Amino acid sequence: MKLGDTMKKKKRKLKKKVKIVLTFLICIIIITTTILISTKNESKTPEKTLTQEEELKKIPYYKEENKDRYISYQKENKNLDTEEIVTNVNIGIDKPYYTNTKQAENLNTNIILVNKYNYLTEDYVPENLEEIDTTYARSGMQLVSEAKEAFETLAENAKEDNMTIIAMSSYRSYDYQVDLYNRYVETDGKEAADTYSARAGFSEHQTGLVVDVYNGDLPYTSFEETEEFEWMQENAYKYGFILRFPKDKTDITGYEYESWHYRYVGKEVAKYIHDNHSTLEEYIAKKVEN
Ligand code: DAL
Ligand code: ZN
Repeated sequence: MKLGDTMKKKKRKLKKKVKIVLTFLICIIIITTTILISTKNESKTPEKTLTQEEELKKIPYYKEENKDRYISYQKENKNLDTEEIVTNVNIGIDKPYYTNTKQAENLNTNIILVNKYNYLTEDYVPENLEEIDTTYARSGMQLVSEAKEAFETLAENAKEDNMTIIAMSSYRSYDYQVDLYNRYVETDGKEAADTYSARAGFSEHQTGLVVDVYNGDLPYTSFEETEEFEWMQENAYKYGFILRFPKDKTDITGYEYESWHYRYVGKEVAKYIHDNHSTLEEYIAKKVEN
């Protein structure tokens, strides 16, 4: 055999070896990549479930006892973000009005919440009720002392700006609300009455922290059309009062818009609710307890 032939044979052998090694390496790379991709995909599924829960838990006012309710409410309300889900469930609006009700907490404080889920008992009468000066109210109108002082200052300062703000309804007893609600039901039927009047025990007028106002001229239902309403929009919170049933919050409050109904919550909370375009429900639902 010639020397050239031997060299050629050796080269061919080497080429074959290189081919085998390369094929082997490519196979190893393909197998490793496939394994890596499939492991990544497998770990993705549980991570996704975890993410929904983790997202909810990131909200500071997340409550563990509401976990299942958050998840089912989220399924039915895909348009809402996580913050809204937690807020709304904390308020209770994942359940129909007047179901899942409980006795109101924080009795005799400015942040007591009375609505379609939180009630006052028949015998609840707030402490320190006092009559509002008749310069600023119809006769016999009562409020809790602190709210009364704040309202009189508000009405006096409004007067200095040539505005007339008069309280035409304030503290209402349980029995008074029974009669009022029943009258509305007789006139308009229960379904309609429930959109604007509270059932007895569920009216925050019973807290002694609420005034319905008018300008001494137009009926209270037209308060929105008055200059006094504008004044209240700008100033009420400075005295600790909030517009309790805003136009665009009827789903949260459970009531139609009431331009005349103001609730005393104290200056600090009123400023927060005013500045954040919020409601008492949302404020309480977002409160982090310790
Ligand atoms: N109108 C309000 C909702 C009440 O009856 O207390
Ligand atoms: Zn009212």
